[in-house]
Amino acid sequence: MSTLIESDDDLSANDLALSYQDTIGGPIRALRAIVAQFGYINDNHISNVADVFNLSRAEVRGIVSFYADLRTSPPAKHKVRICQGEACQSVGSRALTADFMVKSQVLNQSKAPDYVEHEPVVCLGLCPRGPVAMINDELVAHCSDANSILERLEQ
Ligand code: FES
Repeated sequence: MSTLIESDDDLSANDLALSYQDTIGGPIRALRAIVAQFGYINDNHISNVADVFNLSRAEVRGIVSFYADLRTSPPAKHKVRICQGEACQSVGSRALTADFMVKSQVLNQSKAPDYVEHEPVVCLGLCPRGPVAMINDELVAHCSDANSILERLEQ
């Protein structure tokens, strides 16, 4: 089967896929490498991986849909991870997350659809200081206010 190559990005994605061709878990590893390189997996990447590993596109889409880290849309400018671990839940992380989701949607409507996104995470290692959030690369303890999270994005 011939490999679909339409652009330089596809060529790189194809090269990435080929570099995992003879490894155990090759398709998953190739898809993770594509996310690391390009930020997300597009339709051409799926075709590249399918062709390199002699899989159908449906099989590759099945892999992509199974793993949460194999994203199919470009990442937002800002990423917020609010801890959903037990210790943080006991001090209000679920309510904080719900409030953040509502307020971040409003912010995305006013700024850009991909301005901020939330990614759930279980335990950021600061359990006694919950709720804990990771705002881009900054770890924030005692984070109990969605507005303060959004204000940090503006800094
Ligand atoms: S449970 Fe939230 S930091 Fe550990």
